Amino acid sequence: MKRFLLTLCLLASLLLSSCSPATPAATDAYDDMIVVGFSQVGAESDWRNAHTRSMMEALSAENGYRLIIDDAQQKQERQITAIRNFIHQGVDYIVLAPTTMAGWDTVLTEAKAAGVPVIIVDRMIDSADESLFTCWIGSDFRKEGDEAVAWMEKNLSTDAPRIVHLQGNTGTTAQQGRTEGLDAGLAKHPQWQLVYRNTADFTQAKGQELVEALLAQGIQFDVIYSENDNMTYGAIDALKNAGLTPGKDVTIVSFDAAHKALEMVMTGEISYNVECNPLHGPRVKAVIEKLESGSKPPKFTFVEETSFDTATITREVIDSRGY
Ligand code: AHR
Repeated sequence: MKRFLLTLCLLASLLLSSCSPATPAATDAYDDMIVVGFSQVGAESDWRNAHTRSMMEALSAENGYRLIIDDAQQKQERQITAIRNFIHQGVDYIVLAPTTMAGWDTVLTEAKAAGVPVIIVDRMIDSADESLFTCWIGSDFRKEGDEAVAWMEKNLSTDAPRIVHLQGNTGTTAQQGRTEGLDAGLAKHPQWQLVYRNTADFTQAKGQELVEALLAQGIQFDVIYSENDNMTYGAIDALKNAGLTPGKDVTIVSFDAAHKALEMVMTGEISYNVECNPLHGPRVKAVIEKLESGSKPPKFTFVEETSFDTATITREVIDSRGY
C-alpha cells in the first residue's frame, strides 16, 4: 500500500512538474532525500508496532528521508526478497530488523557488493563475517533473562516454584537470550520445576491459547515466565477466564515493559517486567547522519534498559512511556 502511495505521489509530482516547469521538479526533491529501505519483522506485538512508528517518525520526509517499509509478516524469506528489492531500487541504506539469526550471509553479501550499507536493529544475526553489516543497535537479551531470574530468586514466595515458560519465536536472539537466562536459573536452582515450555510466537492469541490448554489439562503452576508483553496479555486473559487472579494465584514475569503492561505492574497483575526498548528510530537516524558526515558509528550498541516491579513502578514512569 505504501509503495503504491509512493508511486502515486511520484507520478503526481511528475505530472505537476511537467505542468509548471518554472518550479523545481518534485523528483529533484526526492534526489535530495536519503532513501532507506526498512525490512521489518512484522506486526506481531505492541513492541513491534512501536518500533515501526519510531522509525517512521525519525526517518520522515520532514527530516529529509524517504523511508520504504516492508513488513515481512514474520517470514525470513520475505525479508530476503525485500532486501533484494531495496538493492534493485538503489536505496542509500538498508535497515534490517531480522526475524531469525541464521541465513543472512548470501543476501547481505549481495548488499555489500552493491555498496549499500546495512544497519541491523533489535535482534542480532549470526554471521562469521562482520563486514556484511555496518553496525548493530539492539538489546542485550541474555541480560534481560538474567535480570528476570535475579528478581525471581529474591521475590518468589516458594523455593520450589512450578514454572510455565512461554517462549518467543524460536531462533530469534530475543527468544534465545531470555531462554538462556531462565535455563541458567533452572540449572542453579534444581528445586525449580519447569512444568511447561512452548513457543507462543510473541503473540497474544497464542499466549492465551497455550495457557488455556494448560489449565484445561489441570497442570498446576506458580509462575509464568513470558518472553513478551503480548503473550502475557493472552496468558492473563486465560487466567482470569478460569477465575484465577494474576499476580496473586500466579506470579507473572514479562518482557518489553510497554505502557499497558506497566499499568498492569502498577495494579499487581504483572509482578515484574524487564524493559526492551523499541525506540530505535532516532538511533538509526544518528547512525545515518554519522555515515553521511564521513564518520564511523560504533559496530555494536546495546541500548540501556531497566526493569520494574510493583515496588519500583511509578505513575511518572508510566506517563512518560514513549511506547
Ligand atoms: O525482538 C524484540 C521482541 O520482538 C520483543 O520482545 C517482542 O515483543 C517483539 O515482537
